[in-house]
Amino acid sequence: MLEINYDTKIFGVIGKDIKYTLSPYIHNFSFNLLGINAVYLVFDLSEEKFNKAINSLLEIAEGLNVTIPYKEKVIAHLNGMDEISKKIGAVNTIFRKNGYNTDYIAVKSLVNEKFGNLSGFNCYIYGAGGAAKASSYALAELGCFINIINRTKSRAIELVENLNKNGFNALVKEDCEDNGLVIVNATPYSQIVPERCAKKANLVIDFVYKPVETDLIKIARNNNISFINGLEILVRQAMEAEKIWFNKSVPDEKIIEYLYARKLVW
Ligand SMILES: NC(=O)c1ccc[n+]([C@@H]2O[C@H](COP(=O)([O-])OP(=O)(O)OC[C@H]3O[C@@H](n4cnc5c(N)ncnc54)[C@H](OP(=O)(O)O)[C@@H]3O)[C@@H](O)[C@H]2O)c1
Repeated sequence: MLEINYDTKIFGVIGKDIKYTLSPYIHNFSFNLLGINAVYLVFDLSEEKFNKAINSLLEIAEGLNVTIPYKEKVIAHLNGMDEISKKIGAVNTIFRKNGYNTDYIAVKSLVNEKFGNLSGFNCYIYGAGGAAKASSYALAELGCFINIINRTKSRAIELVENLNKNGFNALVKEDCEDNGLVIVNATPYSQIVPERCAKKANLVIDFVYKPVETDLIKIARNNNISFINGLEILVRQAMEAEKIWFNKSVPDEKIIEYLYARKLVW
């Protein structure tokens, strides 16, 4: 770590029960490589502490990431948000009290790089929480027709209504039905995606990154299906946050190499 002194800036992640978070490893490593005089801390806050501390944290920290369960709740405390986070209704990155959604940017840019345009494809997204919201907007903007499958149907309906209100044609579904598919696991459990659906896919995206090689990613690999794993999304969203904070970032591969070398992912 660089020397901590008067000018050291504070960054960090806000969430609840986030002992697992890799964000401090990723960002402190990156700050060092970029020569940025900053530290990245974890603010693991109960709801009560969040309510007491959020405004002060926003005053003191230069930039923040936000994770479960505060991606929506934090919005009321911000000065503004970019247009896409307003539509999505969730932010995971804050810079000087303005909100952004780099989960959305990560999915959109990775799909563009690894697969390309999705016009004519049917996307089946499992889940209706923060990851599902961000990825549904990213994939819809790339031309995919969005279908949401979620345990709690009312949340799926809410997300679909939000997408449709913003000009997309999304539906709530119970099961995957077509060929020419993009399959996304946006729940904590990639086994939720039936194997027969995964096998019909042209592209598989899994948000889960522990382990990196989930059962879903294994199915994709074994069947020569293109895939984007949760670690790629995690690192990309972190580096996109750094671009917002500093206008620069470290190449994703360097961060991924570091996380494997430190045995922080497997
Ligand atoms: N790789 C990355 O950078 C990245 C970024 C964001 C999230 N993630 C990961 O993605 C996952 C989802 O995150 P999130 O922020 O979207 O969480 P969230 O807002 O809490 O949403 C979780 C979703 O998963 C569903 N779900 C949870 N447990 C389930 C179960 N046992 N059976 C069926 N459905 C279940 C929930 O369904 P209900 O609506 O029925 O509760 C909900 O739709 C987490 O594992 C998170 O760590 C990874």
